[in-house]
Amino acid sequence: MTKRIAILISGRGSNMVALADAIQNGTIPNAEIAVVLSDQPDAKGLVVAQQRGIKTLAIPRLGRKREEHDREIVSVLRDERVDLICLAGYMRVLSPYFVDAFKDRILNIHPSLLPLFPGLDAQRQALEHGATESGCTVHYVDNTLDGGPIIAQRTVPVLPGDTVESLSARILEQEHILYPEAVASILARLEDK
Ligand code: GAR
Repeated sequence: MTKRIAILISGRGSNMVALADAIQNGTIPNAEIAVVLSDQPDAKGLVVAQQRGIKTLAIPRLGRKREEHDREIVSVLRDERVDLICLAGYMRVLSPYFVDAFKDRILNIHPSLLPLFPGLDAQRQALEHGATESGCTVHYVDNTLDGGPIIAQRTVPVLPGDTVESLSARILEQEHILYPEAVASILARLEDK
């Protein structure tokens, strides 16, 4: 059966596009994007998704408590009968309510080699720590900050003279390869169950 994926974004949405491309070209087989959802109504990625004919939805936080906001999102995701949720530059920490509602069904991509440099500004953290390599990680989301079980990683060198921008761009290129591969392998495992 075709698996339904929800992608949660807060901004540009380039990882969302990489996933959409991978579904289109068969790298991620037997899958469709049920909805692209953002907490930021002006997220560029929402426009990009709409242009591709993908259903989009903005659910802003509007000063509500984290769980209240998440309850609305979870309700939409249930209505959409999603099998897997991919966080792709979604810059909010999920409440335990959300994590428990989709246990082992939420993935995130993070721009560092976790467990190194969790949280915000991972690329800056890598530079400030004088790391000689960094990369990206796809992991399951649990109730820790970027601490859930690791699914896959790709490494890039940190080069002399690197800035946050140059390192971020090098990592992003690998994110766009890693995320589709990881999603395909997770969906294949769901298929076997
Ligand atoms: C990506 O680099 C992603 O790894 C990072 O935000 C960027 C989103 O770019 N996510 C985090 O830092 C999560 N803590 P995109 O909107 O173009 O996919």
